[in-house]
Amino acid sequence: MTVIRGATTIARDDAEEIKGAVKELLDQTVSRNTLHLDEILSIVFSSTSDIHSYYPAKAAREAGYAMSPLFSAQEPDIDGGLPLCIRVMIFVEKNITPHHVYLRGARTLRKDIASKINIAIDGPAGSGKSTMAKALAKSMNILYLDTGAMYRACALKAIKTKTDISDEAAVIDCMRDLALEIKYEDGVQKTILDGEDVSERIREPEVSMAASTVSQYPAVRLKMVEKQREIADKMSCVLDGRDIGTFVLPEADFKFFLTADASVRAQRRYDELTAKGFQVDREELEREIVRRDEQDSSRALAPLKRAEDAVLIDTSSMTIDEVLAEIKRKIQEKI
Ligand code: DC
Repeated sequence: MTVIRGATTIARDDAEEIKGAVKELLDQTVSRNTLHLDEILSIVFSSTSDIHSYYPAKAAREAGYAMSPLFSAQEPDIDGGLPLCIRVMIFVEKNITPHHVYLRGARTLRKDIASKINIAIDGPAGSGKSTMAKALAKSMNILYLDTGAMYRACALKAIKTKTDISDEAAVIDCMRDLALEIKYEDGVQKTILDGEDVSERIREPEVSMAASTVSQYPAVRLKMVEKQREIADKMSCVLDGRDIGTFVLPEADFKFFLTADASVRAQRRYDELTAKGFQVDREELEREIVRRDEQDSSRALAPLKRAEDAVLIDTSSMTIDEVLAEIKRKIQEKI
């Protein structure tokens, strides 16, 4: 059996705040520890005596954790204690090395285990950044945030609503009621657009070029960047994109910039897409990659660019394992 600890804080004693904070705490604990819900034996909460509006156990049940016994208790009022704090202890059937989760104001309780790491991996399409980011996040048991998926979802929204992609004002207008959610299921990112899981659909080739175009529009970028910073601020994660090291998180702990020859990148994309059953022309794919590079590198706001302090890795003639080993070596050197 394993016992996982965690805590979070709320901004005010209010039922919605409690429900949101409890859901976030449990979801992140599950995701960081790669738990299946049926492995949870029991969840015990305690909350500080200034919380009266809602039982954390009830919030947990409503958030989908109803399969195991839940219990909440109130803590004594201790002078100097962290206010508005909810603590949790999760009993899990399997034996694992627990990743305790301290969020929001509760991070200050356990600086030793709550230190957050943000790793930026930027580069052009096909440079291997998403493969690396995924593998690295898995090996460090932290979250992987695919920021390209967010721009792809914006592009898909424009395509679905038959908005003219080249018309900036029309695209911005169509983004006004964008309901974009990033969720994690068994540690895998799911992109939810207007309530629908579009994780697969956004990989379609027509979405790629459209994503490159809509991501040029500052209003679209700023909206996505805000979401990305919000996620990175709360938890350790590896983010891949074009502008993570230069614009989204200039203070990231580690920065990498991956690159590769256009023909190698086109071949990788070709292999990836044909394996998924898409019919694509290899030469056309290479032309599109070059066009996308130009467009992504020449936009005014936060273009594709290596941050001065990013480690540059040319992956043209490297295997996935070699690149991953190099990235890990660089991280190890600095830690
Ligand atoms: O990484 P990707 O191929 O899924 O990204 C799709 C497009 O989204 C890419 O051509 C440019 C844009 N993008 C961006 O502008 N900034 C990011 N951080 C990630 C992607």
